[in-house]
Amino acid sequence: MRKINLGSGPASARGWVNYDWGLMPFLGKYRLVSILVWLKILGREYDWCWPKIELVDIRGELPNEDKSVDYIYCSHVLEHFEKSEAVAILKECKRVLKDKGLIRIVLPDLNKIVKNYSEADSFNREFFGYDKDKYLGLLGSLKKVFIREHKWMYDSKSARRLLSEAGFKNIRLCSYRKGAVPNIDKLDLEQHRKISLYLEAGGKKTK
Ligand SMILES: C[S@@+](CC[C@H](N)C(=O)[O-])C[C@H]1O[C@@H](n2cnc3c(N)ncnc32)[C@H](O)[C@@H]1O
Repeated sequence: MRKINLGSGPASARGWVNYDWGLMPFLGKYRLVSILVWLKILGREYDWCWPKIELVDIRGELPNEDKSVDYIYCSHVLEHFEKSEAVAILKECKRVLKDKGLIRIVLPDLNKIVKNYSEADSFNREFFGYDKDKYLGLLGSLKKVFIREHKWMYDSKSARRLLSEAGFKNIRLCSYRKGAVPNIDKLDLEQHRKISLYLEAGGKKTK
């Protein structure tokens, strides 16, 4: 059973291969992020305990054969790319998934973010993906090298369209820790629950 977690960050479960890419995952892989937090270049919220990861840039070809993967999990990642890039990433997922393979994507839900609106600061953090007002000036620009902002946001309708554009069929809306992909009790993180949307696609048609 082959299971891959794209842009895993700190979220992993036994039996999953974690792909991640960039300066932070590189530093995380070698346990160096704490130094940046200690130097106050990054806030404590970035002091993750990284699991074992493979440095794979998911914008390119995945290091998996055609139809060789059973499950793909991808949480809070696709919004960090332009929509066309997200479609290309999902097409690559389609290529490596077995015919009965399943993908689960978790995204910040634009609709929930708007509905949950309580104050501008938290709205902006959820919308842009980071505290913009903490990254100002020269030091801010330096700190920003480590941060990835959101480039495109989705609601359930547009996320469905995204999966469909990449060739996925049998797309269904799920919920926190509910679905057919294994280990979502570990992979779906509580911290994303309030603002996320959960979708699964592929596999056998359910009645
Ligand atoms: C907001 S974090 C999400 C982490 C985790 N999946 C979660 O649900 O909290 C986005 C993750 O995508 C990763 N990422 C961004 N661009 C990537 C790329 N080109 N290839 C692989 N991973 C990437 C980041 O390094 C980061 O770990």
